[in-house]
Order: sequence, then C-alpha cells, then structure tokens
Amino acid sequence: MKLNDKQHTTTNNQENKKILIIGLGQIGYSNAEYMKSVGLQADGFDISEKAVARALSAGVIQKKAESFRGYDCYIICISTHLISDMFVPYLDGVYDIAKRLSVEGTPGALVGIDSTIPRGTAKKILEILGHRMHVAHVPHRYCAGDRDEHGVKQMRVLAGCSNCCKEKALNFYNEILGIPVHIVRPIEIAELCKTVENAYRFLEIAFAEEMKMVCDNLGINFDDLREAINTKWNIKIHRALEGIGGHCLPKDSRMVFEINRKYINSSLLEAAQKIDWQYRTHIGQPIPLYADLLEPVNVRGEQGENDGKEIGLPNASYTQAHLRR
Ligand SMILES: NC(=O)c1ccc[n+]([C@@H]2O[C@H](COP(=O)([O-])OP(=O)(O)OC[C@H]3O[C@@H](n4cnc5c(N)ncnc54)[C@H](O)[C@@H]3O)[C@@H](O)[C@H]2O)c1
Repeated sequence: MKLNDKQHTTTNNQENKKILIIGLGQIGYSNAEYMKSVGLQADGFDISEKAVARALSAGVIQKKAESFRGYDCYIICISTHLISDMFVPYLDGVYDIAKRLSVEGTPGALVGIDSTIPRGTAKKILEILGHRMHVAHVPHRYCAGDRDEHGVKQMRVLAGCSNCCKEKALNFYNEILGIPVHIVRPIEIAELCKTVENAYRFLEIAFAEEMKMVCDNLGINFDDLREAINTKWNIKIHRALEGIGGHCLPKDSRMVFEINRKYINSSLLEAAQKIDWQYRTHIGQPIPLYADLLEPVNVRGEQGENDGKEIGLPNASYTQAHLRR
C-alpha cells in the first residue's frame, strides 16, 4: 500500500528530528511550509526580523532559534549572491554560518545546503566544520508559479561530501521528507547542476527569441512556425514572451558563463544574453540587468531582405540610459 505524505513521514521519523531552517526567504519559507504539511516541526533563523516574523505568523516555524545548539538537521537556505548585484556570488553568509555551526552545531548532525552554491563551496564548509557534521548539497529547483508539481517535493539532485554525509542526507530528504532524489558524486556535480540546468534553459528560450525577431522581420507568424516545427518528435521550441526574466535564469546562466569563459574562447551563453537583450528592445521591454556586463551589440538584417533594417537594437547610438526604461 502506498503511504500518504503524513504516514510516510511518521513511519520514517521515529527519531523525531529537530530541524533548523537557516534563511527564511522564498526557499526557506517554502521548506518550512512543506515540512509542516508533512507533520514535521522546524525552528527558523534569519538575519531579517521581517522574514522571521512572516514565518512565525504563518505558523510554518515553531520559534526563532536563538542558538544553533541541539538540532539534528540544519537546512541552509540563505541568499548566495550580493543583494545589490545578483550577478556577484556572495558566500560570506554561508561561511559565517559554517563557523557558527562549528562551535554550536550538534556533532554528527546533517548540514543540508539547499541554496545555490558555486563549485567547491560544500567542501570548504566541510573543512570549516572539520567533518564533525555531515555536509550535503541538495540544490533547490523551486518554481513559484508551479508549487504543487515543482515546489519543494520534486525530483532533486543529492550529493554528500563523503559517503556518510550522503547517507545522512538520503535519510532526511528522501525517507523523512519524501522527496525523490537523484544521487550524484562527487558533490561538485550537484553544485554545477542547478546553474547549468538554468543556463541550458536560457539558451533554449534565447533561440526562440532569435527566431521570433527574424520572423517579425520576414512577416512570418513565429507561433505558426513553432507549432509546425514542434510536431517533430524530438523538437520542442519554446515560446518567445517578454524576455528571459525572473531571478534564477539570468543569474545562473551568467554564473555558468563566467566559468566557461575561463576555458573556451567563445560561449553560446554570451550570444544568448545578447539575443535576449536585443529581443527585449525589439518588443519594447526594459533591458536586462546583465546588459551592463556585455559588449554593445549592433545587429542588422540582411541587405535586400529588409533593407538593412535593424532586427533588434541596441546599437552604439543607443546609450544604456536610453534603453533602460
Ligand atoms: N527562489 C527560487 O526560486 C530559488 C530556486 C532555486 C534555488 N534558489 C536559491 O536558494 C537560495 C535562497 O533563495 P531565496 O529565493 O529564498 O532568497 P531570498 O532572498 O528570498 O531569501 C534569502 C533569505 O536569507 C536570509 N539571509 C541572508 N543571509 C543570511 C545569513 N547570513 N544568515 C541568516 N539568514 C540570511 C535573508 O534575510 C533572506 O530572508 C539562493 O541561493 C537561491 O539562488 C532559489
């Protein structure tokens, strides 16, 4: 007989684990909400009193933790980029938490990192903790617009710094929380996974935007073209909407691009960012934040096809201030 979520949890939670969620923003709050929905109780911690108050008043956490002492599972959900610039990774917060855990954390407890972290971060945390606690990375794939199917409980990638860390994480995320997991090793694969999957999606959408701009210039209905092409069994072209927005797709693709450019001379991701920039201009949307990081682009249509009409601005004659509306 298949157990429902609550039964599943009760069966596997005989140890009655004490859980602390660190960071109560979108991800931490959703984790707390999910844990409550499966009959678990968690405490919370956040440097923002507002975030703590929101979680407390919604009843998704029991109390604000004044200390990190006495917990079995610490789930890190804090932001990992600069608040003033989402394209700059900022890990001081994560390392400060690790330092505090090295003093106050329960030896043998699990430190699960749900936040997006660059390659090498998990092992550095393990080092700070002197492996007195188990460190695992289970990057979040949360989609705010589709919380039921793609919220906290959806297929997640899981890796431990070592085998004992993996086992500990498997018990918590899979057996206790009931989250299906795909186990990988080494942990660097889990660290790369989240950003690379978002970078891949960025590329796919940028291709749709490119073709939409060309179709507009040719007087062809892109949606009709797309619908026709998508009848082929192995093709699924995205829709071109209002530009590649949200937080994670632009931020994560930029992070992957910064790695890639160290090893290869040109990157599809750079072209995709330029396409998205041109597309936004083409449809009259504000330019993306990462435009500041790109060289100016100047793209014209084929002579004869559209008399050299610009497929998409921007070009050198358009200052960024001009475009940012
Ligand atoms: N939101 C998403 O859809 C999503 C999806 C997948 C992964 N992620 C990743 O999850 C992480 C959290 O994202 P989010 O959307 O919840 O961010 P958020 O900005 O909504 O929340 C982050 C919270 O962390 C708190 N915080 C920051 N530094 C802290 C510290 N040192 N100690 C305690 N609390 C601290 C902030 O006050 C804030 O409440 C990020 O790494 C993000 O990239 C987010």
